Amino acid sequence: MRLANKVAVITGSSRGIGRAIAVAMAKEGAKVVVNGGNQKAIDETVEMIRALGAEVISVRANIADYDQVQMLAEEAIKAFGRIDILINNAGITRDAMLHKMTPEQWKEVIDINLTGVFNCTSIIGAIMRNQGSGNIINISSVVGLYGNVGQTNYSATKGAMISMMKTWAKELGRKGIRANAIAPGFISTEMVETIPENILDGIKKSVPIGRLGTAEEIANVAVFLASDESSYINGETIRVDGGLYT
Ligand code: CAA
Repeated sequence: MRLANKVAVITGSSRGIGRAIAVAMAKEGAKVVVNGGNQKAIDETVEMIRALGAEVISVRANIADYDQVQMLAEEAIKAFGRIDILINNAGITRDAMLHKMTPEQWKEVIDINLTGVFNCTSIIGAIMRNQGSGNIINISSVVGLYGNVGQTNYSATKGAMISMMKTWAKELGRKGIRANAIAPGFISTEMVETIPENILDGIKKSVPIGRLGTAEEIANVAVFLASDESSYINGETIRVDGGLYT
């Protein structure tokens, strides 16, 4: 058990990559706080984790709202007494070409993918400072490294998740807290399934491994980064993209 008794808060863990990380961490002995916006999806994830015999609570909260994140952290502390791992995973897309992107599409993505990450990390990072230990993992994206047609808003936030993480690695390293990022490529989730078929076919062809990734392939790396096996890795971004951005 590589995460025995560690308490993990995983934002956006009701579905997709976040759910896979929550399940993988539970399998490694972590106590899990599931978060999301869709109650049915939250309940399904909780059931999957309970079936493993792991401890789990769920908190429905919008990370774009500072007060709701405070409530999320309070519920986690009430249930488990501490927070060892924060996975900043929740994120949305509102894709449009730059000349068609509306201020609303820009703001919706910034509010969740960027301000939401600030809200979670400022509140939970303070708890980790008091504990003298913690582990923060940002789920960025390959598009934060190399951009993507139709994703001015999303790629801005994913690039920012890498630069914020590097800042936290410097600020918090001496406080016993590590910060790292994962940059997934195109992973088989609902988010990627919304890409028009002709464009997705082109993306698949450009991946050296020749296929989309799975959520479990991201979760494996998250477990590694959250565990003591990676104890000297701090401020790093690990691409998990089948060689797409090489
Ligand atoms: N690469 C190169 N060119 C592209 C492209 C791509 N990935 N996507 C679109 N284009 C081109 C089109 O071929 C088209 O070119 P022409 O004008 O020469 O015909 C031009 O851009 C405009 O495209 P559309 O006709 O599709 O324009 P639209 O306004 O109807 O739609 C769009 C624009 C919403 C961005 C749509 O193209 C789209 O959904 N693209 C996919 C965006 C994408 O990859 N999103 C990733 C979601 S998954 C994710 O975000 C997870 C992650 O972290 C990776």
